[in-house]
This record gives sequence, C-alpha cells and structure tokens, in this order.
Amino acid sequence: MKTYFIKTFGCQMNVYDSHRIAGILEQRGLQATSRIEDADLVIFNTCHIREKAAEKLFSDLGRANLVKQARLLEGKNTIIGVVGCVVQAEDEQVFKRSDAVDFALGPLTYHRLGQVLDELEKDSGIQVIDTEFPAESKFDFLSENKAEGVCSYIAIQEGCNNFCTYCVVPYTRGIETSRPVEDVLREARKLVSDGALELNLLGQNVNSYHGEDKAGKERNLAYLLRKIGELDGLKRLRYTTSYPADVDDDLIKCHKDMKILMPYLHLPVQSGSDKILRAMNRRHTKAQYLDVIDRLREANPQIGFASDFIVGFPGESDDDFQATLDLVDEVKFITAFSFKYSPRPGTPAAEYPNQLPEKVKKERLAILQEKLFAYQTDFNQQTVGKTIEVLFENKGRHAGQLTGRTPWMQNIYAEANGEYLNKIVDVKVESATMNSLSGKIVRM
Ligand code: 5AD
Ligand code: SF4
Repeated sequence: MKTYFIKTFGCQMNVYDSHRIAGILEQRGLQATSRIEDADLVIFNTCHIREKAAEKLFSDLGRANLVKQARLLEGKNTIIGVVGCVVQAEDEQVFKRSDAVDFALGPLTYHRLGQVLDELEKDSGIQVIDTEFPAESKFDFLSENKAEGVCSYIAIQEGCNNFCTYCVVPYTRGIETSRPVEDVLREARKLVSDGALELNLLGQNVNSYHGEDKAGKERNLAYLLRKIGELDGLKRLRYTTSYPADVDDDLIKCHKDMKILMPYLHLPVQSGSDKILRAMNRRHTKAQYLDVIDRLREANPQIGFASDFIVGFPGESDDDFQATLDLVDEVKFITAFSFKYSPRPGTPAAEYPNQLPEKVKKERLAILQEKLFAYQTDFNQQTVGKTIEVLFENKGRHAGQLTGRTPWMQNIYAEANGEYLNKIVDVKVESATMNSLSGKIVRM
C-alpha cells in the first residue's frame, strides 16, 4: 500500500480523528491522495447523528466499490475501511450493507488500525471488525499529534453521559472519559511548537472535563484552560462543545480573566420549550439557559453565542416551537446549527408515540432558519467599519487574497500578500454577508 484517501463525515471530533488516522498511516509510509481512484487504501470516517449523514455513507460505498472493481481490472488492489460512529451503531451490518468493506473500526478502536492492516496484508480475503469499548485509551497508543496549521484541535474528552433522548452519542462514543491533564498539556505544547497559534479543545461535552493531574487529583475545564493559556507562543484558545447545565462559575471566571479565550461560545440549547427540554432529558430549563448566558455576558460582554436547535421533536406543538423562536429573539445568536428531528434507532425518542410529520418539521426549520440567518447577518454587518484581529489561515480563491477567522469565528477575506499568512493582523471590515466578511489590512 502506498497511498490513502480519507473522507470525513460529521463533526469536528471526526475531523480530529481523521487527522490522527492520517498520522498512523503516514508513520507506515503511506501518502495522502485527494483522488479516490489513486488510493490503495480508502477510509470513510462516518457520522450516525442523523439519518441523512448515515445514509450518505452507503451511497459513497457503492461508488467506492465501482472504483475498487475498476482498479482490480488494472491489477491494483484497494482496501476499503469504514471507521467512526456508524460502525459502532451498525456493527456487522456495515459488511451486510456493502461487501466492498474490508475492515470496520469504531471511534474508540482506531488506534488498532496498524494491526488490522497487518492482518489484511497477510490475508486479503478476510473482513475485520472491532467495535469494542476498550479498557485502554486510544490516546495512549497514538503517536504524537502534528499541527494541522496555525489552528489546531485537541481532543480532551470523549463520550457523553447525558443521554438526551434523541441522541446516539452515548451509544457510539460511549460514556464520558477525560484525558489526563498532563497528556493534554504535552499535546498542546507540541502543537504550539509546531506553529499552532490557536488551539481548540474538543469533546462532546468539554465542560464536564474531569481529567486527573499528576497527583491524581481531578481537574475541571477551567483549570485546563488556565494551564494551556500560559503556553508561550499561543495566541488564541477555544473549546467546543459545552453543555449548558455544566457551565460552572470557574469557567465563567475564565471568560472574565483570560484574554486569550476567544469571545465565542457554542452552547447548544436544542429548544426553547421547557416541556420539550424535559422530553429531551436535557438537564436545564429555558430560564436556566438564559441565566448562564447572562452570567457569561456579565463576565465578558463581547461574547457571541452559537447554538444547536432541533425542530419537530416528538410532541412539539406550535406553542413549543414559538418558545424556541422567542429564545432566539432573546439571545440573538451570532450563528447556529439547526436540524429537523431525525429518529435514531435505539434512542428513547424514536419510540415516542407523537412523532411529527416531515412537512411540519420542514416548515418549522425554514421559519427558524430565516430568523437565525437574519441575526447572523445582522451580527456580521455590525462589524463593518470596525478594525478586528484576524488570524489568516489560508490563501484565498483569488491570487493576492488571504482568508482567516475573527475572534467570533467569522470567515473573513482580505487582499493581502503571503507575508501575512499564519499571522494575526488588524483588518478593517468593509463589507459583510451572512457567511463572510471582507476587509483591508490596517498597516501596522
Ligand atoms: N435529530 C436531529 N438532530 C440531532 N442532533 C443530535 N441528535 C439529533 C437527532 N436525532 C443535533 C443536536 C446536537 C447536534 C450535534 O446534532 O442539535 O447538538
Ligand atoms: Fe448527545 Fe445530549 Fe450528549 Fe450532546 S449532551 S452528545 S446531544 S446526549
């Protein structure tokens, strides 16, 4: 095997996992290719959160199988692997759905990829699956992480104990585990020495982080943020995703004290109706959510909030939906992800009797998104005329252009030569749309 191709579905955690998988493969001497036709090894890193994401995998596998057959005619072998949450949820069904699949690994066992590839090299006729919830942590077996660029991610926590009634995560990523403080710090130091200026701490539920320090004492997210915030050379720090009921005073204080902590917070609320929040098994009411927002705003009035919403949850009435719209008006989220409720096999809500018709879900999503998009556009337009610090991460589509992010995660592009790439630069915003800003560099 010489080349590999990875396609990643789903969340930022999957993007991180794919990066770590690429690290394993590169250590074995494989090289990345962006063309599936050229790949000796094809890996799909999958998402099971909504039906649409999971179904997409199976159409991609169909196409990958055609490529595999075509390559076979040229005398080239192709190994196809499926990793991630669909594997954990569907287990051996993955093989039944597509016989092109040679191996399948869950999100907690991909550190065993090397062994699996060794087995397949010995005997290409077999199919290997590993969906164990292992006692060991995969992080202890992965080699050092390499920075993806100036903005890098670190998984600090994985899994979830909240069991929201719609969600597959506790079943696919398992119960909550936190990486030890020292492991996270080691990875953070390495990424910063590789050139990362911004670190984003990742997990399904990062603010319930409870990793052990050297002395075996459990530490919270605020402690970890402060430690990482002290690293020489690091300019920006973020964390995602947080659970509203687990935002503690210590964390709120970080937003007051730590300049390095960016004024942007992704805090999923899902619904504005207490009745629906209860049916979702969320551990917060609308009022408690708003209280957390108030306290964070008091700590740092600059914070912009992002959220996730589900519309059309079983039993959601017009009034319940209206309560969600009202909440949006109260908070004025600067960006948001909104979804139609998708019943997932094995989750309690999928069995609830009062499922809503697709038509209602679709209508409500359109109404909600219109409101969310208007607030997002407003927020972006308010930045016009202001000078904002931008971290330029990439070359733009046109020559002489760079793209980057503002502290609020807005995409921004500016006419700028390569010397500004990978730097934080003052940019005066000149125009804004819903999805991006454009501006001019302010000469320093
Ligand atoms: N249907 C629709 N959206 C879902 N999410 C999680 N499970 C479902 C589901 N069954 C959404 C939630 C969560 C985000 C990652 O995905 O809003 O915050
Ligand atoms: Fe899923 Fe709820 Fe856990 Fe988020 S908090 S991962 S929505 S179970």
